[in-house]
Amino acid sequence: MQTLSTNIAATDYVRSCPRPLGLVPTMGALHEGHLALVRRAREENATVVASIFVNPTQFGPQEDLATYPRDMERDLALLEAEGVNLVYAPSPEEVYPPGFDTWVEPGALAERLEGAVRPGHFRGVATVVTKLLNVVTPDRAYFGQKDGQQLAVIRQLARDLNLGVEVVAVPTVRDADGLALSSRNTYLTPEQRAAAPVIYRALSEAGNLWLGGEGNAATLRSAVRCILEAEPLIEAIDYVSVADATSLLELVRVDGPAMVSTAVRMGRTRLIDNMVVGGG
Ligand code: PAF
Repeated sequence: MQTLSTNIAATDYVRSCPRPLGLVPTMGALHEGHLALVRRAREENATVVASIFVNPTQFGPQEDLATYPRDMERDLALLEAEGVNLVYAPSPEEVYPPGFDTWVEPGALAERLEGAVRPGHFRGVATVVTKLLNVVTPDRAYFGQKDGQQLAVIRQLARDLNLGVEVVAVPTVRDADGLALSSRNTYLTPEQRAAAPVIYRALSEAGNLWLGGEGNAATLRSAVRCILEAEPLIEAIDYVSVADATSLLELVRVDGPAMVSTAVRMGRTRLIDNMVVGGG
């Protein structure tokens, strides 16, 4: 496995790699969710590239950029064991050199849900993903369904800017108790970790109601909210959404693929999760 940290070296390396080439963009602190992306990429491509870059421009000023978990040595060992060909791990200066001032600004899709609570977040994501795609030139790029809105924004980015990459969605990986894996789960205290699967139970309740014939989106939202509000360790609920799975516009009735999603705060940790109901 090669590890490279400059744009030029990475672009040069991939030029001679067998195709198709799959890219798994990550911010490191890898867990089984990331490894599921890598395994899928390994199955579908002759060459697999993973990137590790904690992207400063997608963090707000009050967010956890400084404390975001980092463990390059462990990440490299995990990626090597999965048969990754190249790890591209640039420095912040390599990605954003002095004078950098061109941004990819996603549209309305990025203003809802996470975008409303984290202004500028998806501008940072869209900009760095575009740059990673330009450096690595993959045929396919792999993203987790766990960040459902990010996935929708990146799909639209690839389509709108003719990026020529197939965006592949990989299902969320959960712990046995239902908590979606996230690098930020390491921030949880043991008590918060024990309480956190309530998020999955709340989303599952919406799924079960829908399977039982309940199509009223407001009823599904209330059912999720009611379960979350009963957990004292949840200090705030940023949103509970039942939205069209593509446009992320809030629905009145669920009669096609819908994303039921939520973001909650437990102490210093913000957790997001979603579940798609109604097919798709
Ligand atoms: O999902 C992530 O880890 C990040 O948002 C991504 C896609 C690697 C961009 O920094």
